[in-house]
Amino acid sequence: MKRYAIVLSAGKGTRMKTELPKCAYPLIKKPMIAYIVENLKLSNQIDDIFVVVGHKKDVIKDILNSSVRYVEQTEQLGTGHAVKMVEPAIPDKNSHVIILPGDMPLVDSDLIERAFKEHQTRRHDITVVTTRLNDPFGYGRIIRDESGYLTEIVEEHEATPAQKLVDEINTGIYIVDTNILYSTLSKVTNQNQKHEYYLTDIVKIAKSENYLVGTYTIKESYKTMGINDLYALSIAENILQTQINKMHMKNGVAMVNPESIIIGHNVIIEENVTIHPNSYITGNTIIKKGAQIGPNTEIHESYIGERVVCKHSLVYNSKVHEDTTVGPFAHLRDGAEIGPKNRVGNFVEIKKSSTGRNTKMSHLAYIGDTTCGSNVNFGCGSVTVNYDGKNKYQTTIGDDVFIGCNVNLIAPIKVEDNSTIAAGSTLTTNVPKGALAIARAYQVNKENYIKKPKDEDKK
Ligand code: UD1
Ligand code: CA
Repeated sequence: MKRYAIVLSAGKGTRMKTELPKCAYPLIKKPMIAYIVENLKLSNQIDDIFVVVGHKKDVIKDILNSSVRYVEQTEQLGTGHAVKMVEPAIPDKNSHVIILPGDMPLVDSDLIERAFKEHQTRRHDITVVTTRLNDPFGYGRIIRDESGYLTEIVEEHEATPAQKLVDEINTGIYIVDTNILYSTLSKVTNQNQKHEYYLTDIVKIAKSENYLVGTYTIKESYKTMGINDLYALSIAENILQTQINKMHMKNGVAMVNPESIIIGHNVIIEENVTIHPNSYITGNTIIKKGAQIGPNTEIHESYIGERVVCKHSLVYNSKVHEDTTVGPFAHLRDGAEIGPKNRVGNFVEIKKSSTGRNTKMSHLAYIGDTTCGSNVNFGCGSVTVNYDGKNKYQTTIGDDVFIGCNVNLIAPIKVEDNSTIAAGSTLTTNVPKGALAIARAYQVNKENYIKKPKDEDKK
């Protein structure tokens, strides 16, 4: 039988009290809905994923692109109503469907696989995934009869004081036979405090029609935490961070003060890497063997080669090849590609530029829109002047070029191999191979120029 997934993400997320739709909120720079879809795909159990969108739907669509199918819920009339919207889109009703809320980023593929297994081996018509919480406030409560069978799910708003004491909650994950899902859902009404169509009501209806409704109770309750406000988001982010760091440390990545280190879900770090405090590494970043990262370093969507040392610096969408040192206080961005054995030192910014081997820009430089060769030395204060206020221009620098301090290379410009540029020069034309370029005013010393003392000073 086919297996489908429905992810509910049409809600506004009123309790977040912010503009962004809730399911687009990031944990470690990645939107929570992206975790759910990624883990559904990883579970290898699902034929099609339907994402219900509504409030600010384009934000969710921009995140997931064409990796899923979208169903629109124009009015947010409740979770039951949201699932109903998917009915016409499901190709084969003789199937199973897993329903997940879009605000549950910590659910993993293992849990999804186990829930399906449970549903099938117990031959349930509906399986509700439940867990126990010390503080069940806000969640739907699992109500059981004397024999322990699930009879209904009662929302916080509707619960009696006795029901509020129940510590077993509805995680919001269900596996249902699709035909039964839609036959029971058609009978759900909005006769409740919030005047919403609650998906949870299918349990009571299915029970009354003698369907086999069971539960799968999980121990790792943190995995099914629902993110309703920014405090919950911070807790989930913390849990995720601890898990990810542990995994890397077990794989041979040393971390100094791991509580202060944040590593994204998709970051790959090879063994023998050391990460120092306050480092923030995110996106599809790869860090190769023997690299030393931090302290106080941010790396996003970048490649860091073997034995690179990168401290007190920012590296965004860039590549740094082996044995190069970056920082302190360097900034690489927008496709900077630094060759092997380079030195990018204090207060150096490099944008959309590449360098060959063994090139050095040790202090106070800006290199933008530049292609630079090997063994080049940028003196302190060198600047590629790439912008005239309207357009950006390219600088090309060959191999073995020595650039003195405080040099401006006004682009477009080409500096050929083996040339030398005198300190303080502002170059506006190309420099040929092997030349010395000097473009600065000559010094004039006016001898015996002594300021005449004023009359008052003479007294
Ligand atoms: C829901 C469950 C509750 C469960 C909890 C687990 C219901 C009625 N309640 O409550 O039993 O314990 O999740 O986290 O189902 N959404 C839509 N369209 C809507 C309404 C909601 O797509 O019309 C989406 C939201 O974007 C969200 C998800 O459904 O991602 C759950 O909605 P939310 O309002 O967070 O439900 P809870 O009150 O947390
Ligand atoms: Ca929720």
